[in-house]
Amino acid sequence: MFRNPWFETVAEAQRRAKQKLPKSVYGALVAGSERGVTVEDNITAFSELGFAPHVVGQTEKRDLSTTVMGQQISLPVIISPTGVQAVHPDGEVAVARAAAARGTVMSLSSFASKPVEEVAAAGAPLFFQMYWSGSREAMLQRMDRARSAGATGLISTLDWSFSNGRDWGSPVIPEKMTVKAMARLAPEVIPHPRWLLDFAKSGRIPDLTAPNLTPPGGEAPTFFGAYGEWMQTPPPTWEDVAWLREAWGGPFMLKGVSRVDDARRAVDIGVTALSVSNHGGNNLDGTPATIRILPSVAEAVGDQVEVLLDGGIRRGSDVAKALALGARAVLIGRAYLWGLAANGQIGVENVLDILHGGLDSALRGLGRSSIHELVPEDLVIPPGFTRTLGNPLPVREY
Ligand SMILES: Cc1cc2nc3c(=O)[nH]c(=O)nc-3n(C[C@H](O)[C@H](O)[C@H](O)COP(=O)(O)O)c2cc1C
Repeated sequence: MFRNPWFETVAEAQRRAKQKLPKSVYGALVAGSERGVTVEDNITAFSELGFAPHVVGQTEKRDLSTTVMGQQISLPVIISPTGVQAVHPDGEVAVARAAAARGTVMSLSSFASKPVEEVAAAGAPLFFQMYWSGSREAMLQRMDRARSAGATGLISTLDWSFSNGRDWGSPVIPEKMTVKAMARLAPEVIPHPRWLLDFAKSGRIPDLTAPNLTPPGGEAPTFFGAYGEWMQTPPPTWEDVAWLREAWGGPFMLKGVSRVDDARRAVDIGVTALSVSNHGGNNLDGTPATIRILPSVAEAVGDQVEVLLDGGIRRGSDVAKALALGARAVLIGRAYLWGLAANGQIGVENVLDILHGGLDSALRGLGRSSIHELVPEDLVIPPGFTRTLGNPLPVREY
């Protein structure tokens, strides 16, 4: 047990997660692909940006609240969807409770380990995330279920490229948690008694199924079974995505946009929001950091749809930088997963508090009274920082 369960930075949450989790579970959170260029650039790029602070004239009170897809949130940070099967016995329910406690949105992956009904009961505003996987009928049924449970927004993640190699090695994840699989994992698990103890106390074993993909009257598929279905589904066209948006009929976010021409197509099919995202660097390695791409996408479509960013957010100051470059809000992935691993629901609240505090401090330094006042001039942007992908029209370069 750590003497003080509270941690002061996301880096410390990561250290604790590494100490607490079996190697494969921690490895699944680190994720990344190929050389890891993108996963690293997502972080490095934020550190290349500086601030231009004021010395006098800061404001006493600062407003961090905004809305995303119609949901009022107390800070411009929402939970990004992730499948967190074996991190913590309470999984996505703990994350949703933390989101509710801190006044933000919970986004639930269709590959998550907890049923959408249980996650909705936590009381946070809820977005449901789907891949383009299975038949249209199955997709309609999954959307209906999420809607009935209380999801108000749909996130369609379309950037996955099924990259499966990592130079540093991929984690070993069993198909099912059978006694045999557990025995095989024992040498990894035994040195991490606290992780095992948390599961033992909950009376559960890590559930490697995807209960939100259960067919009517059927059983929840295993994570790999669901992955197989997804791999075999032909990739969608823009017309398919337009169908999905129409079928959902409510606020709709396209997650995974890098190119300006794609952003414009997304506007054309009527999305409510898009997230400039490279799936946290888990996809096509070599895609630039999202913060480098954000200004071009925000300038092209930011007056027509809500532009969000995810990838590499580890500090409140990172949130300030993203907002200054045109994001309405950001989504976080690994940061809350590490918090969850370190200290369950309280650990996720701890991470949201770190980001809240860091953003507030950045606003104070910059002499801003609201997140809506942040502008590129608040930053020191090195020459050649930005990247514009796939854009035939001129956009502002830094
Ligand atoms: C372990 C892990 C699982 C993920 N699972 C999903 C998922 O099921 N659906 C999805 O849209 N994105 C998924 N993502 C991507 C995240 O939603 C988000 O885009 C990414 O983590 C942001 O980068 P960050 O981790 O640096 O914050 C996953 C990411 C990680 C690290």
